[in-house]
Amino acid sequence: MRVLSGIQPSGNLHLGNYFGMMKRMVDYQDHHELYCFIVNYHALTTLQDAKALRTQTLYAAADFLALGLDPKKAVFWVQSDVPEVTELAWILSNLTGMGLLERCHSYKDKIAQGLKPHHGLFAYPVLMAADILIMGGERVPVGNDQKQHLEVAQDIAEKFNRVYGEIMTVPEPDICAEAGILSGTDGRKMSKSYGNTIEIFCDEKTLRSRVMGIKTDSTPVDEPKPVKNNPLYEIYAAFLDETGRAELRRRFEAPGLKYGDVKKELVEVIRNYFEPFRKRREALVQDESVVLAILREGAERARATAHRTMQKIRKVVGIDYRS
Ligand code: TRP
Repeated sequence: MRVLSGIQPSGNLHLGNYFGMMKRMVDYQDHHELYCFIVNYHALTTLQDAKALRTQTLYAAADFLALGLDPKKAVFWVQSDVPEVTELAWILSNLTGMGLLERCHSYKDKIAQGLKPHHGLFAYPVLMAADILIMGGERVPVGNDQKQHLEVAQDIAEKFNRVYGEIMTVPEPDICAEAGILSGTDGRKMSKSYGNTIEIFCDEKTLRSRVMGIKTDSTPVDEPKPVKNNPLYEIYAAFLDETGRAELRRRFEAPGLKYGDVKKELVEVIRNYFEPFRKRREALVQDESVVLAILREGAERARATAHRTMQKIRKVVGIDYRS
């Protein structure tokens, strides 16, 4: 089974990225063929600062490697090192109805947040489909917010196969219901654009202030606390297994629990959880040559796969006019 997913380097990676995608990718690498990449072309839709894009790309790669992604087991690369993907996106554009893209929530949300509509934002799902189809991705672990984009990719793959013959593998989304909707500090979905994130590798002081800032309700101390729509519970629970979660739930539901105590505890939980990865991340950030070498090798492997797909595609669509 070929498992594939990409992550945007548009800001420092946070717990929503970690539980929604990164951790699950690392878990997959032992038993599946894994394709994992940093989508810097996609980041251009919202980030137009060359220096920031460059550093965020390297940070995202360092984060992933520090968190356990093993470049010997997985193909790990930066999207723009396989520029063929933009060629495929163009070919796919001609099979993608306007209506399909106009219905995309993610596009509508970004416009509603005040981003000026532009073609890159609108065409984002087509490039994403190209990412998946060029590598023959079969299963795609993503957060819940990407479900519709996966449906677009499926639609495009099916359309391609109807028009040009059965070439494309139709990808299956792999959405983890819990992880897909990790709450941010304000109770909405954790997302950079809401400013409600807790970053994976922030410093101690920032971590403390982010956790202390998690929105809580005004249930009196001697009453049971809700676990539903309670971001403090939800963020904490993401770090626990089933037994731990049942125990946490019991504590919330018993009178006497103080939110402030739980927050202090959560700071420690988050810090301890990421502590083993932190040193490795610092080393990778200090010496980017290691990261660059890993990415170069990943790019070669990814590009070989893309090249094979494109040879076939150019032929069936008639772009390869020489043969
Ligand atoms: N749109 C995805 C996100 O923001 C990132 C992405 C780009 C992706 N290309 C992809 C995810 C291909 C999976 C497969 O999370």
